[in-house]
Amino acid sequence: MQRLIINGGSRVCGEIKVQGAKNSALPLLAGCLLAGGEVRLTNCPELSDVYAALRILSRFGCRCSFKNNTAEVNSAELTEYSVPEELMREMRSSIVFLGAALGRMGQCRLSFPGGCELGPRPIDLHLSALKQMGVKITEEHGELCCTCPKGLRGAKINLSFPSVGATENIMLAAAVAKGETVIYNAAREPEIAELAKFLERCGARVSGGGCSTVRINGVEKLHGCEFEVMPDRIAAATYMAAAAATRGELGLTSVRCADVQSVLNVFEHAGADIFCGKDSIFMSFAKPLRGVKTVRTMPYPGFPTDAQAVVMAALATAEGTSVMVENIFESRYRHVDELVRMGADIKTEGKVAIIEGVQSLYGARVRACDLRGGAALAVAAVGAKGRTVIENVKYIDRGYENIEKALNSIGADVYRSNDS
Ligand code: UD1
Repeated sequence: MQRLIINGGSRVCGEIKVQGAKNSALPLLAGCLLAGGEVRLTNCPELSDVYAALRILSRFGCRCSFKNNTAEVNSAELTEYSVPEELMREMRSSIVFLGAALGRMGQCRLSFPGGCELGPRPIDLHLSALKQMGVKITEEHGELCCTCPKGLRGAKINLSFPSVGATENIMLAAAVAKGETVIYNAAREPEIAELAKFLERCGARVSGGGCSTVRINGVEKLHGCEFEVMPDRIAAATYMAAAAATRGELGLTSVRCADVQSVLNVFEHAGADIFCGKDSIFMSFAKPLRGVKTVRTMPYPGFPTDAQAVVMAALATAEGTSVMVENIFESRYRHVDELVRMGADIKTEGKVAIIEGVQSLYGARVRACDLRGGAALAVAAVGAKGRTVIENVKYIDRGYENIEKALNSIGADVYRSNDS
C-alpha cells in the first residue's frame, strides 16, 4: 500500500499549472459514448478515476487510447450495454454513463453505485428524470436494468435539488431524445456548462448550460469532436490552501478566477492578498492568517463542498475561530479526526464544524478516508512541524495528478513510499 511522507514546515513559494478537471473529464468521457465517432479530449488529467472511466468505455466496445493528457475514444461500434459491478465500484460517479448509454443504445444494465465515503449517495433524482423520459427501470439483485421500449423522449424535469450528476445524466440522454427537454433547477456548476459546450460541439442543441434552466432539443445523432478539458477548480483550491497553511506565496496558471471566486473570498477574509489575471491567480499570505466565520458549502456559485476539507486544514492554524457548515453531503467530516491527530482543535456536531485555530500542527501517522479529505491531510502536513505519513494514497490519486510533484514544485518536501 502506498503512502505519502511529508516533511512539513517549509513555506510554499512558486507556481503551479493547474491540471485538467476530474469532475469535467468524467461526464465528457461518458459523452464520448453518444458521439458515435472519434472524440479527442485534450488536457485530460491522468487520474485513476479517468482510467476507470476508460475501462468502462472499453467494456462498451469503444476503442480508447490515453497518452500525454490526451484521451481518444472511438465509439463507432459498441458491443455491450452492461457495466459489471467491479467497474461500477471503481468509481462512484460511473452512474453518469447511464444517460449516455441509454441515448446511444436504448438500454443499459449496471449495478447501483452504492454507499460511499461521503455517506449515502442516492440516485433517485437521476432515475425519476430518466423515467419521465420514457425509460423503464427494473431492479434485480442490486442491478438496474434500463430500457426505453418507445425510445427516449424529451420531458420537462424539475429537480428538487440541483444535483450535478443528475443534471449531467439528463443532458446526455436528452441530447438524442425525441423533442425538447427542459431541466428546471439544474446544477449551475462550471462542469455543466462545459458538458453543454462539448455536446454542442458534437452536434447537440443545448442552451442555458450553467444556468438554472437548461434546454436541450434532441437531434438524431451526434458526431465526434476535439475538446479541451477545463482547469480543475478544486485542485486549484487545494494548492491555495497549501499556500495558506504555510503563509506562502503561490502563482496558479491555467485557472479560471470566476470558477474559484467563492474560495478566493474565503482566503481574502482570512487575510490573503490576491491578484487575478486572465487565466492566472497570484496570492500571498504575508499577513497573519485569520479565522473565517462562517463558511457554508452550497451548490455553485456557493462555496464548493469539495473544497471544505482542504480549506479547513488551512484554517486549523488561523488566529481565532472558524465555523464551517457542510450542507451538501451527510458524512463529510471524516478528515477531522485525522486533523485532530495532527494537533488541530476541531469539533463537529452534525453539519457544523468549529475550528479553533492552534499555533501549529505537528506531523503524525494519518489515513486518508476519501479523496478531498486525503488532500486536506496533505495540506495540513505541508504546514505542520515534522513528518507526516499519509496512508491510503489511492484516494488522493483519484483526483490529483501526481500531487507530490505539484507540491514539491512549490517548495514542499513530499515523497511516495511503498514500504511499511
Ligand atoms: C458531484 C461531484 C462531487 C461533488 C458534488 C457536489 C463529480 C464526479 N462529482 O457529485 O465531487 O462533491 O457534485 O458538488 O462531478 N442527491 C440525491 N439524489 C440524487 C442525487 C443527489 O439525494 O439522485 C443528493 C446527494 O446525496 C448529495 C447532493 O444531492 O447530498 C449533491 O449530490 P450531487 O450534486 O448529485 O453530487 P454528485 O453529482 O454525486
